[in-house]
Amino acid sequence: MGTKIEKKEFIYEGKAKRLYKTSDENKIIIEFKDDLTAFNAEKKGSFEGKGLVNLQITNLIFSYLKLKGIPSHWIEQISDTEAVVEKVEIIPLEVVIRNRAAGSIVKRLGFEEGHVFSEPVFEVFYKDDALGDPLLTREHVRMLKLCSDEDYEVLRAKALEISKHLTDLFKEIDISLVDFKIEFGKNSQGEIVLSDEITPDSCRLWDIETLEKLDKDRFRKDLGKVKESYELILLKLREQLN
Ligand code: TMP
Ligand code: ASP
Repeated sequence: MGTKIEKKEFIYEGKAKRLYKTSDENKIIIEFKDDLTAFNAEKKGSFEGKGLVNLQITNLIFSYLKLKGIPSHWIEQISDTEAVVEKVEIIPLEVVIRNRAAGSIVKRLGFEEGHVFSEPVFEVFYKDDALGDPLLTREHVRMLKLCSDEDYEVLRAKALEISKHLTDLFKEIDISLVDFKIEFGKNSQGEIVLSDEITPDSCRLWDIETLEKLDKDRFRKDLGKVKESYELILLKLREQLN
């Protein structure tokens, strides 16, 4: 476990997490909340134990990706709701990879839900709640100076590599990874590392046979059994990875 890290001042509260400084200036503590929001927080909910489930899922997935040679900001889980992570400057882009059509791409481009793309689709959205996280073209990213051309290519390559590993992992537990959103940050050495979380909040996960939704769409669409679905994902990942 190394030297004990002390939790210091509160930094920021997001929709599903709180951030705190620590006794080490290069590390922060992330606290996973039980809150659940959708449609830019127009819809709010929560379930008891959600923070714990999402923290454990993120812990398992980031540890798995590390073994596959993909570093992230994740250091370790320190309690039921908290993890220590490397301090990074978040690049304000939501990087999305889609294997099948669902959500906004169905509305935007008219694909039938469930359509399987011949290759993974890479998209970036502007991480800006006030603007409603709009889809960005390569030129928009450049105009807004959100990251350099070189960094953009690093994000794309890393996202596709992560997609390959996650798609394989979920297939092994009979889940189709429909799409997911990831974020990247720059650490103190200027390296781009996977950051934030990977959970049923940030992925679409369908039963590979029945195509039953097992992710935040159950909350977005009032399908019920939200907690049960998140817990099932955790259980399956645990059985596969531990
Ligand atoms: P979308 O189909 O709504 O664009 O979402 C694509 C993926 O990104 C999906 O797995 C859900 C995830 N996502 C987030 O993690 N945060 C968000 O704010 C949104 C809109 C989507
Ligand atoms: N993450 C966004 C929100 O919390 C949107 C979504 O996931 O649907 O409002």
